[in-house]
Amino acid sequence: MANTTRVAVVTGANKGIGFGIMKELCVKFEGLVYLTSRDEGRGKAAQQELAKLGLSCNYHQLDITNQASIDKFAAYIKNTYGGFDCLVNNAGFAYKQAATEPVGVQARDTVGINYFGTLAVCKALFPLLRSHARVSNVGSSAGMLKHLNGDEPHASELKKKMASDTITEAELSNLMNQYIESANNGTHRQKGWGSSTYCMSKIGLSALSRIQQRHFDTDPREDLVVNFCHPGYVDTDMSSHKGPLTIEEGAVAAVYLALLPPNITSPKGQFHWFDCKLIDWVTTAN
Ligand SMILES: NC(=O)c1ccc[n+]([C@@H]2O[C@H](COP(=O)([O-])OP(=O)(O)OC[C@H]3O[C@@H](n4cnc5c(N)ncnc54)[C@H](OP(=O)(O)O)[C@@H]3O)[C@@H](O)[C@H]2O)c1
Repeated sequence: MANTTRVAVVTGANKGIGFGIMKELCVKFEGLVYLTSRDEGRGKAAQQELAKLGLSCNYHQLDITNQASIDKFAAYIKNTYGGFDCLVNNAGFAYKQAATEPVGVQARDTVGINYFGTLAVCKALFPLLRSHARVSNVGSSAGMLKHLNGDEPHASELKKKMASDTITEAELSNLMNQYIESANNGTHRQKGWGSSTYCMSKIGLSALSRIQQRHFDTDPREDLVVNFCHPGYVDTDMSSHKGPLTIEEGAVAAVYLALLPPNITSPKGQFHWFDCKLIDWVTTAN
């Protein structure tokens, strides 16, 4: 008989906003919640922290930049549950402003985790989503198109491509690779890209989320929905604890999108602010 246990998965859940998302989902998600982390020790310690709060979750290792780790997790979910119902793509990375690595290295690493890592997880796990599944991508205000502010006319051309309703996943990945290449040879500004590798990675994730919803719209499975959000400026290691929001406040929009009720007509493939307000990602200039 098919296993009908409802399952939710959170990436990068051992600390920060991901841990805040876990706290909420452990209470609100009707089913099992998987805390995943790239480091098993840190993940299991976080699971114990939740247990101390009276919250129960399951654990599995998942490094979003390691294909073997992704494949192992996907096989585990398939073999154990047959499928799953909710994915929060929270894991992310940003170099500190004072980082001394060359911009090409920063672009490779940051886009590698935030864009290509998330994409690899989705490619492996999306086939396992059940009808009515919800996907919540943790983007950023840094992923708004205004940050594509390199030299004209290339910046405007890039914005147009990113915001296109017909751009394919392969075309987007090609653009992200072109960005890394141009950062490597120092021509990224001339080619229209912005200076922040983090912004470029999150613009890629935003554009990807819109493509993913287009695929869901024609998927034979019923009612698959993906949205993306800016969690706010949150007090975490990533912000060097400068953000004013708590991890619980930073989790609000991602959890809202993860728990959208069945058979909604909207939001789908849309960007949300940390207070859950809808933002038009294509037309918002600021
Ligand atoms: N904090 C903010 O103000 C802010 C603002 C806008 C958007 N965001 C976004 O919110 C999300 C969470 O950020 P945060 O502030 O909570 O950052 P954080 O405290 O640095 O936590 C990031 C999490 O992602 C994990 N991670 C990094 N690389 C990974 C990989 N290859 N595989 C699996 N997990 C990986 C980290 O694991 P380790 O512990 O092993 O490093 C950690 O669990 C990110 O997507 C970030 O871009 C944050």
